[in-house]
This record gives sequence, C-alpha cells and structure tokens, in this order.
Amino acid sequence: MSDPLLNLSAAEVDIDGSRILRGVTLEVRANELVALMGRNGVGKTTTLRALMGLRPLRSGVMTLGTTDLVPLDTAARARAGLGYVPQGREIFPHLTVEENLRVSLVTHGIKGSAARDALDEVYTLFPILRQFVARKGGVLSGGQQQQLAIARALLTKPRLLLLDEPTEGIQPSIIEEIGDTLKKLRASGRLSILLVEQYVDFCRAIADRFYAMDRGVVTISGPIADLTDEVVQKHLQV
Ligand SMILES: Nc1ncnc2c1ncn2[C@@H]1O[C@H](COP(=O)(O)OP(=O)(O)O)[C@@H](O)[C@H]1O
Ligand SMILES: [Mg+2]
Repeated sequence: MSDPLLNLSAAEVDIDGSRILRGVTLEVRANELVALMGRNGVGKTTTLRALMGLRPLRSGVMTLGTTDLVPLDTAARARAGLGYVPQGREIFPHLTVEENLRVSLVTHGIKGSAARDALDEVYTLFPILRQFVARKGGVLSGGQQQQLAIARALLTKPRLLLLDEPTEGIQPSIIEEIGDTLKKLRASGRLSILLVEQYVDFCRAIADRFYAMDRGVVTISGPIADLTDEVVQKHLQV
C-alpha cells in the first residue's frame, strides 16, 4: 500500500481551555476520497481548521507527503497543496462569480496566463459558473454557491481538498450533482478528498473509506462497505 498523502496523528486541539480534539488520527492516500463523519459538535470542522492552520495544534503530527505542516501558516499550507472549502461556503455575496474567484487568485499570487488557465479549468469543470460569471454570489442557489466554493479551492491546484459539509442546506437534485463532481475530480487522478459529511447515503455513494468521530476522537473507521446501518446507528445517529 502506498504511503499516505495526509498523515494526521494524535492531534490535540484546545479551544478556550477545553480539549476539543483528544488525539485524532487519520490518513488519506493518493486519489482517495475519505469521509470524516460524526454528529454535530464532535470536532469535524475543528479537525479541518487545524489542518489548515486556523487552529493551533496542542500536540500531534501533521504531514502532507514529505512536508511537515505544523510549522506552516495557512498560506504556506495552501502552497504545499491543501485546498479548503469551509462549512457554510463563505463566498462574497456582493461580488460576482468571477470576482469571487479573482479574489482567491490575488490572495495566492496567481497571475497572467496561470490565472487565465486556472479560471478556464474551473469553468470547464463547472459550466454553470461560466454561464453566471457576472452574477453576484449572493443570488446563486445553494448548489451553485457550493460549486463556486469548490471552484475557488481548486484554483491553487491542491493535492488534497478539504470539504466541510458540502450538502448542508442543498436540495437533493443538486446534491447528486455535487457527488458527481467529486467523483469526477477524484477520477481525474489529480487529487485526494477529505470530505466532512453527515449525509450517510452521500458518503456511501462516493467515498472509498470513512472515519467516524465522537467527542474529539475517531471511534471507528474502515472501507466504506463497513459503514453498515448498525455502525451508523451506534456511531452517527443522535
Ligand atoms: N469558536 C469556538 N469557540 C468555542 N467553542 C468552539 C468553537 N468552535 C468550536 N467549538 C466547540 O468545539 C466542539 C467541536 O466543534 P466543531 O469542530 O465545529 O464540530 P463539528 O464540525 O463536528 O460539528 C463543539 O463542542 C463546539 O462547541
Ligand atoms: Mg462542522
């Protein structure tokens, strides 16, 4: 088996004096789509934020390929190959689709033909965004906003995409579309995906493996076929 692309080991994070992550260990291999599951408040978002350098680690190991992520700030982690789609999408409602993407290009210092190529690539992946380039982000549907948020994260050509609850608040027909997009991305062989998600059937349809968290630790993990109704009932249901 190949070495993991992402290795997160025994990660501890404190927030306001409380231990929120209590030794999270997980890995993602090249071209894998891995689901990180769990009820509300167990620490899924905190895990992704810690990976992006938005929450300091109290202790633990975090590597992407041969790169130690721990000493790197958020921008350096993006350069090292991490892309992040935050929960709630966080697009700029008063900027157009293209402006939302350009903000990210400027932030990451991507200019000239590299910027044009990056835009062209995401517009090819998400034709609806090309169609709506001049539309304000705030008037897009939830599904379109999610596509914009994913497109924005892809501009830096990440090796690992971190996605936080992309189906939250999105209508079923579009959920399927987002699933197809993620499968297509993974099939392109260019990146791995760590997907935080509570929607079990969505994970079953697209993930290779899963981890389930409870109160700051991983309680069970395995190939997605092991995510049986019994496991869901015991580890994921309220
Ligand atoms: N900014 C914050 N301030 C205080 N507590 C927080 C903050 N962010 C998260 N927490 C706490 O950390 C725990 C895990 O939160 P989070 O990682 O957002 O969970 P999940 O994404 O699994 O729903 C929760 O109990 C939450 O209350
Ligand atoms: Mg969350």
